Amino acid sequence: MAQGYRQTYAAAVKDPGAFWLAQASKIQWHRAPSTALDESRAPLYSWFPDGTLNLTESALDRHVAAGRGDSTALVYDSAMLGTVSRYSYSELLGEVERFAGALQARGIGMGDRVLIYLPMIPQAVIAMLACARLGAVHSVVFGGFAPKELASRIDDARPVAVVTASGGIEPSRRIEYLPAVAQALDMSGGSVRDVIVSHRDGFGHALAEYTDRAENWLDWEEIAAQASPAGPVPVPSTHPLYVLYTSGTTGAPKGVVRDTGGYATALAYSMGAIFDVRPGDTMFTASDVGWVVGHSYIVYAPLLVGATTVLYEGKPVGTPDAGVFGRIIERHQVTTMFTAPTALRAIRRADPDGGLWTAHDLGSLRSLFVAGERLDPDTYHYARELLQVPVVDNWWQTESGWPIAANPLGLDNLERKAGSPSTPVPGFNVQIRDALGESVPVGEEGNIVIELPLPPGALTTLWGNDQRFIDTYLSQLDGYYMTGDSGFMDQDGYLFVMGRTDDVINVSGHRLSTGAMEQVLASHQAVAECAVIGVNDPLKGQRPVGYVVLKSGVEIAADRLKAEVVAMVREHIGAVADFREVSVVSALPKTRSGKILRKTMRQIADGKDYQVPSTIEDISVIEELIPLLRPGS
Ligand code: COA
Ligand code: AMP
Repeated sequence: MAQGYRQTYAAAVKDPGAFWLAQASKIQWHRAPSTALDESRAPLYSWFPDGTLNLTESALDRHVAAGRGDSTALVYDSAMLGTVSRYSYSELLGEVERFAGALQARGIGMGDRVLIYLPMIPQAVIAMLACARLGAVHSVVFGGFAPKELASRIDDARPVAVVTASGGIEPSRRIEYLPAVAQALDMSGGSVRDVIVSHRDGFGHALAEYTDRAENWLDWEEIAAQASPAGPVPVPSTHPLYVLYTSGTTGAPKGVVRDTGGYATALAYSMGAIFDVRPGDTMFTASDVGWVVGHSYIVYAPLLVGATTVLYEGKPVGTPDAGVFGRIIERHQVTTMFTAPTALRAIRRADPDGGLWTAHDLGSLRSLFVAGERLDPDTYHYARELLQVPVVDNWWQTESGWPIAANPLGLDNLERKAGSPSTPVPGFNVQIRDALGESVPVGEEGNIVIELPLPPGALTTLWGNDQRFIDTYLSQLDGYYMTGDSGFMDQDGYLFVMGRTDDVINVSGHRLSTGAMEQVLASHQAVAECAVIGVNDPLKGQRPVGYVVLKSGVEIAADRLKAEVVAMVREHIGAVADFREVSVVSALPKTRSGKILRKTMRQIADGKDYQVPSTIEDISVIEELIPLLRPGS
């Protein structure tokens, strides 16, 4: 694989078609593609238009056929239950065939959407692969989202089935999923025929309570036991493998659509070029299957290359302690680990010298990959010194599906610079532009944009809404995709990603929309207007803070208002929003045209130099807010 980064990057720029067709040959096709890129609907591009495949054949069947059926495909390590179980490739294939057969028997087939709302248990992986086996389109929803968020995804994707479990286990409590699913179904539009439940012991609600409902509530084990194994259904390369909802600039989540052949090709390529993972290696990605990192690097990529993947149910700290990642590395002989900066900061806070982690034998570990939010230099150095392996910051998004910038361990031995995810990955032509779309000089911050077409694996559209896809990402700068991040490139072509330019915030590596939180706050009867901003947080990266102006004449105690809006955000968005702070103010700073100056508020709160636009309506509003935004100033 090691061909040198610059040579490989240049090859992908010079002849993308030849480059990506060569990569596509590494996965299994029913009909191998003869052309790489379809430009006929530009700016909507698609990859390998005449190829057909079933992704599960590349991820499962071919490893079994090659005599590797006994190799471990999946390790399920639950710190919450204190259990470990393993599935060989043959066993995982068997489970997937059976569950796909059960879905097929329920009439679910190609193009049908299946919503998956599962905690970190093997059934999540099996359900995703079972959908892929049939050409059904899965949409996984993170367990920390509230029923309302679940309902909005059901309304957009219109799934025929929901696959869920009795519940999820958090350190502080058990989360009952069945009432949440029922509530979401009551709030949504009635597309769902079947609710399939994987039983877990220790939860208060049982399937029997839901038999009177309009949907059929079915037991996973029962329907799988009766099913005949389903074979792989070939689909066009461009067929959607999944829809994954992510926070956008408005409250409504965006359904990122991932194709099949382009994604499989890109992931397989990334495992060689970036992650340097091969058959026999073990990858431990400490994320959640509800996020893109989980889709790509817990489920699909490790299996596509015949490696072992570790599915971890637990936290980086407190389950039982900050040494748990070390235990997992030692016990499962992990070669490649992937986590979020927040997790490293949480470990460092709980165990400053890292003794709990390094008490374990970490000899198998070759590298640590870190993504989800900016990896601050301090945390980078901490991890590097503690683990004594390359620490690889990689920058990407739900939309891209795989890293846009990373230090490509499989291609080269490039220098790593703290604070930078290194250089653009072959296939991504990354540039920095100013607000007018002009290139900016080296070292100067601007919008990070990517020249079209995006490489295989990146989103092809938003579910059911090509126009929203174009309006959101492609219409601001002709011929480019706007990432929504700002940053700069240094003289060596290293990218530094500094933060979002929109209202997306990153709380503990979870992507959230402050706009969605504002919608919730604004619906409180005492609130006239509000702003939610993400302020820097030493542990979580960012945390949401709300500022509300009360309706005139309304009197409500600050404590009561806070308790009520915090509960509302929890109810409407979910505990994962981690919304805990709100202040009542007499006015919000605005421009003369009425736009709230959130960016200025954020700059003040983060202790940065701040610019007050000349169009400000009333400068005294900002002056009054400063002591609140920047206590002690
Ligand atoms: N289901 C239900 N609720 C969940 C949940 C899930 N899957 N995940 C989190 N929550 C809840 C938590 O229970 C908590 O609720 P509480 O307010 O009632 O206590 C709330 O959401 C916030 O949780 P969390 O973000 O986990 O914060 P924390 O302070 O409990 O833990 C960390 C801090 C750093 C340990 C944790 O955020 C973490 O592991 N982050 C890494 C995230 C990650 O890997 N992201 C993937 C990016 S690649
Ligand atoms: P998500 O879609 O949830 O993966 O979140 C994507 C966003 O997280 C990006 O647009 C960035 O703002 C941020 N992000 C992810 N990885 C990094 C990274 N390595 N460095 C800086 N920001 C990152």
